[in-house]
Amino acid sequence: MMKVLRNIVIAMAIAAVPMAAVQAGPMDKAVGARKADMKLRAFYMGQLGGMAKGKIAYDAKTAQGAANSLLALTKLDGSKMWPKGSGNDMLGTKTRAMPNIWSTYPEVAGKGKAYKMAVENLVKVAGSGLDGLKGAIGPVGKGCGGCHKPFRAEKKK
Ligand code: HEC
Repeated sequence: MMKVLRNIVIAMAIAAVPMAAVQAGPMDKAVGARKADMKLRAFYMGQLGGMAKGKIAYDAKTAQGAANSLLALTKLDGSKMWPKGSGNDMLGTKTRAMPNIWSTYPEVAGKGKAYKMAVENLVKVAGSGLDGLKGAIGPVGKGCGGCHKPFRAEKKK
C-alpha cells in the first residue's frame, strides 16, 4: 500500500514538471517578443537620433526608412505581447514592465497612441531634410520616455 502511494506521488511529481514548463513558456515568449519590438524601436531611433545630433551624416533614404520602420512597428498586433500577470511583480527580473500597465489600463494605451501620432508626423518629414527630422524627432523621443517613465522599471544594476 505504501509503495503504491509512493509511486503515485512520484508519478504526480513527474507529471507536474512539463506542466510547469508549459505555463512558463507562453509568458517568456510574450516578454521576449515585446522586448524585441522595443529593441527594434531603439535601433531605428539610434539612426534618426544620430542624424539629428549630427553624429552621422543626414541621409534622406535612411531617415525615411527608419521612420517608416518605426511606423510599421506601431502596426504590430501587440495584444498577446502584454498578457496580464507578465509584470515585474509576477516575473521578477525577467521583465521591467510594471504592474500598473494593467491596473491603470487604458492609460498605457493612451501613451501608445501619443507615441504613434508623433511617429506618423515624423514619417511625413523625415526624408525631406535634416530640419524636418530635427523638428519631428523630439516628440517621438518624448513618446518613448512618456511611457517608460510611468510604466517601465529602472534597470537593475
Ligand atoms: C506605450 C509604452 C511604450 C512606448 C511608447 C515605448 N516603450 Fe519601450 N518599453 C516599454 C515597456 C513597458 C518596457 C519594458 C518591457 C519589458 O521589460 O518587458 C520597454 C522596454 C524598452 C527597452 C528595453 C528592451 C529590453 O530588451 O529589455 C528599450 C530599448 C525600449 N523600450 C526602447 C523604446 C524606444 C526607443 C521607444 C520609442 C521609439 C519606446 N521604447 C517606446 C514601454 C514603451
